Amino acid sequence: MFAIIGGSGLTTMPGLAVTRRQVVRTPYGEPSGALTFGRIGAAEIVFLPRHGYGHTIPPHQINYRANLWALREARVTGVLAVTTVGGIRDGFGPGALVVPDQIVDYTDARAHTFFEGPESSIGIPVSHIDFTWPYAQVLRARLLAAAAAAGEAVHDGGVYGATQGPRLETAAEIRRMERDGCDLVGMTGMPEAALARELGIDYACLSVVVNHAAGKGDSARAIALANLEAILAATMVRVHRIIEAFVAP
Ligand code: HPA
Repeated sequence: MFAIIGGSGLTTMPGLAVTRRQVVRTPYGEPSGALTFGRIGAAEIVFLPRHGYGHTIPPHQINYRANLWALREARVTGVLAVTTVGGIRDGFGPGALVVPDQIVDYTDARAHTFFEGPESSIGIPVSHIDFTWPYAQVLRARLLAAAAAAGEAVHDGGVYGATQGPRLETAAEIRRMERDGCDLVGMTGMPEAALARELGIDYACLSVVVNHAAGKGDSARAIALANLEAILAATMVRVHRIIEAFVAP
């Protein structure tokens, strides 16, 4: 079964015929909310908004471990994570949809691993995951095929730079991220992707560009925060179409 982890602009899942909600407790604490099970067309899915149903949890306070653990308990085998981002690369302007293929992690002070040593209460022994390609190729391919089937243009590939937030970046930080090879900047892509890999859950990301990153394009002087909601709302319609095609059996 697939899970959809919704980001800003996706705190409820239109088109989902809800069958049940389940509160899951985990050794890591509370997930962002109850898991919502239901059907999109013929596909059974589970939905979890990472900021909570009322969008109350900021990126650095999301319990990423509890969220992924709860999805594993629900026997999820693949996650489609929707994230909102700023665009750094030319051509990644507001309204662009991107399926990233790489990550640079700038986050800190987040609980970022399940591997906590032999004394850990759940006893996953310390191990090392291969993270050369942080997203599951098979799910990325499915996502790209779904976008094509839905008639929605998406960019295939890009480097997601994950920042700690909740503040946005300085123009110099974005220039540094650009030199590092980042094409997108967001606050929630990590440690989510790595935790999924630790649990053996396939994970792919669909990033919604809602603004030019700080200092870029029409964000040269400031990021017009008041505009983001409208861009997000307009683009989410396209995201829903892609999700419907993605989960279709
Ligand atoms: N920076 C970080 N996170 C974001 C941005 C941004 O410019 N836009 C949306 N999420």
